[in-house]
Amino acid sequence: MPSFKDFVHTQFLLKIPEPTTSFESKTVIVTGANGGLGQEIIKHIVRLGAGRIICACRSLSRGAEAKKAIEAVTSCKPDLIEVWELDLESPPSIKSFVERANGLPRLDTVIHLAGIRAFDFGVIYDTERTLAVNNIGTFLVGLPLIPKLKETARTYNTTPVMTIVGSALYDIAKYPKDPGEDIFTYFTDKTKVNPWNQYNLSKLIQLYTLIKLATLVDPLDGAEPHPIVVNSVDPCFCETGLSREVTGLTRVVTKTFAAIAARPADDGARQIVHAASTGRETHGLYMRAGAIQAYKPIASDPAKTEYLWEVLSKRLVKLDPTILENLK
Ligand SMILES: NC(=O)c1ccc[n+]([C@@H]2O[C@H](COP(=O)([O-])OP(=O)(O)OC[C@H]3O[C@@H](n4cnc5c(N)ncnc54)[C@H](OP(=O)(O)O)[C@@H]3O)[C@@H](O)[C@H]2O)c1
Repeated sequence: MPSFKDFVHTQFLLKIPEPTTSFESKTVIVTGANGGLGQEIIKHIVRLGAGRIICACRSLSRGAEAKKAIEAVTSCKPDLIEVWELDLESPPSIKSFVERANGLPRLDTVIHLAGIRAFDFGVIYDTERTLAVNNIGTFLVGLPLIPKLKETARTYNTTPVMTIVGSALYDIAKYPKDPGEDIFTYFTDKTKVNPWNQYNLSKLIQLYTLIKLATLVDPLDGAEPHPIVVNSVDPCFCETGLSREVTGLTRVVTKTFAAIAARPADDGARQIVHAASTGRETHGLYMRAGAIQAYKPIASDPAKTEYLWEVLSKRLVKLDPTILENLK
């Protein structure tokens, strides 16, 4: 958890400049693009000259509404933004999205923004919902896009970026003492789930698995002349719909706290677009407040890196048997 001083700095004092790196000619995918941060991200990417923008949304009608709202503000040409269906809780939806994306002429940037903070317990992919969406769903769609990013790197002599939107709350996640052979199975038991912790834990697991992914895909000491970047970014605490499942008095408290301390979604979007515009210096790393941040000890246990990658890979292979071939 950021210290109080750090929280005050990032929430109230930090100046967050508009991103300026050009996206000219680039094709960009943003998942969860209709949400609070998503719409602001797309506005920046339009301004920065992207050639093609794909808003991946689980509801086509919410996606169409977002597109309309963005077009009204940016006056971009009507065919620049496309809305494609993607539901991270549905393997058939992910499969058809990935097939479509792999038919694109180029793919320069993927921003994994879609995520949930579930308070209503439910089981998907044989695990608790938050982990299902933020960890399994995110990687289930991300890994099959890697060959397209690499092809784009070679063909266009560019450095494509895959950014996973993380959270500084990873640092206060409570990791179970003994999650057994498979942490995802462990959390099918509702009594083991603390909904306040589950989101933080999902963000910790995201970082561990991203660290491992970066060692498998174009490692920094590798010889690939046209490598890609995978990184993560915390957008700070921003006013969005993320905590929509919180109810009752807690909802009132949460809303009040957000009214006092949350930044506008545009501030978070700026930081995400900045992270998605960086180069190899951020590969495998996590950014916050516009800079690379060292991983805290909780995200620096090599045994957990291996364990979490193994259990995640097993889940992914179960849902998509050839998925790991995308890493070769
Ligand atoms: N807001 C913050 O303070 C904050 C801080 C740190 C990190 N983040 C991260 O930022 C990301 C975006 O959150 P947000 O704050 O913009 O919240 P949000 O307004 O709730 O947006 C979340 C987006 O994810 C989509 N989504 C949820 N489940 C999905 C699924 N199964 N398949 C496809 N899309 C799905 C939502 O679609 P629907 O509209 O259809 O539900 C929505 O577009 C999350 O990963 C969150 O962890 C946010």
